[in-house]
Amino acid sequence: MQCIILVSAIFVLVFGIPVPSPTRDVWVGPNCHMCEVILNNVRYEYHNNFTGVSVDQLRLSLYQQCDANLNGFTDMERLLIEFVKENCCVDCLRLKHSRAKMRSLLVLFPILVALVWCQKIPNFTVSNAELLALAKKLRQVDVHRARPDQIMLNYQKHTVTRDDSDSAPAKLFSRVDSSLLRKPSYELYLNLMDNFNRQTGVTEPRVSQTEEKAEVGKFLDHVLATKPMQELYNWFKAKGHPIATSPQNFRFWIGQLWFSHYSRALGRPDTSGFEHVFIGEAKNGEISGLHNWLRFYVLENNRTENFDYKGFTVKRFNIMGALKFTWDGLLKRVGSILIGTTPEYDMALYTMCFLSRRGRETCDVELDGCPLQITSFEIMQQNKVYIGSIYPTAGRLTDECRAQNR
Ligand SMILES: *[C@@H]1O[C@H](CO)[C@@H](O)[C@H](O)[C@H]1NC(C)=O
Ligand SMILES: *[C@@H]1O[C@H](CO)[C@@H](O)[C@H](O)[C@H]1NC(C)=O
Ligand SMILES: *[C@@H]1O[C@H](CO)[C@@H](O)[C@H](O)[C@H]1NC(C)=O
Repeated sequence: MQCIILVSAIFVLVFGIPVPSPTRDVWVGPNCHMCEVILNNVRYEYHNNFTGVSVDQLRLSLYQQCDANLNGFTDMERLLIEFVKENCCVDCLRLKHSRAKMRSLLVLFPILVALVWCQKIPNFTVSNAELLALAKKLRQVDVHRARPDQIMLNYQKHTVTRDDSDSAPAKLFSRVDSSLLRKPSYELYLNLMDNFNRQTGVTEPRVSQTEEKAEVGKFLDHVLATKPMQELYNWFKAKGHPIATSPQNFRFWIGQLWFSHYSRALGRPDTSGFEHVFIGEAKNGEISGLHNWLRFYVLENNRTENFDYKGFTVKRFNIMGALKFTWDGLLKRVGSILIGTTPEYDMALYTMCFLSRRGRETCDVELDGCPLQITSFEIMQQNKVYIGSIYPTAGRLTDECRAQNR
């Protein structure tokens, strides 16, 4: 809201052009984020290298991006975006391209400042009890999760993190009911799995951007319509959080937080929150991330991935484990996963925790009576917030946890 007013005010000052007067309901914070994402997508299309790219090419890319991102917006929002498209984005890119004109710089600078300001996710105050209550609710509505009889685990021996000894000759997942994997959200998640370069420092995606975009779009469309994500949306909306002012905003932010590419190495857009948490990556000779049971299961069952489970450091029945493994020669000393949950549940729970308790505070939740802590870290790049990592840690093994699980 404030940032839109600021951006508008800057336009008025700089161009002397009247801006359509914003109404409270429409000009909310995250919409102004759109311009930056559009710019980022264009930069990304050229891998941030504008050598030999003409202004006309840039303009075309920009317009394509704007159009692609305009779907689902109201007429008022379109009007603003069109305005930004005409007056801001083109100038930004032209400047990037030719490094020209002081006037452009003067225009660009305050706009960037405003965008940076828009970009900040506001402080969000929520009690531990509220987080716990929503976590329980998310579990309750996660109707497509695996039933206890659909997954058979074989934890084998306890291990420690200091070496790479193998305390588990067999696989962790002895059996997973294949009908489970035909449920839409698992299937759409499986479709995403070949989109990534495991190695950090290698620009994403591995497949064409068209394929990536289409698959991510389908995944988001589906997941956002599921009960866990709907619960999450309603919860944020009731709390007046700016990511949930409208379903379109929410989709935009979920996409931005989880799927937009940023850099872990060499300054290349080589990663995303989703890649880290749901896929796993190789960094500095070790495996980093990989906190999803289905991904673990898929890797374990693909010979060419050369994946080897090596024992657990902590286990909580059939709901959560902290595990040691190697993946194509690289070790993960300990990585924890929730077991049998749907991707939409993990995404909802982790998003709740990320937006409420990231950094040093942990997000204390519960899964079937077992206390869990969710730790998450943000990565700020070019003043944008990205999901760096999110993972669960087992809390105390309580009587209730024992009683509810066997
Ligand atoms: C940018 O692109 C040009 C031409 O396509 C190429 O020669 C140059 O090496 C690239 N620079 C970087 C840093 O990748
Ligand atoms: C938001 O939280 C941070 C860290 O706790 C604090 O430094 C900052 O002042 C807060 N900002 C507002 C506007 O409350
Ligand atoms: C196994 O993994 C390889 C390498 O990632 C991939 O090319 C192949 O499609 C996978 N096989 C199956 C059956 O998914």
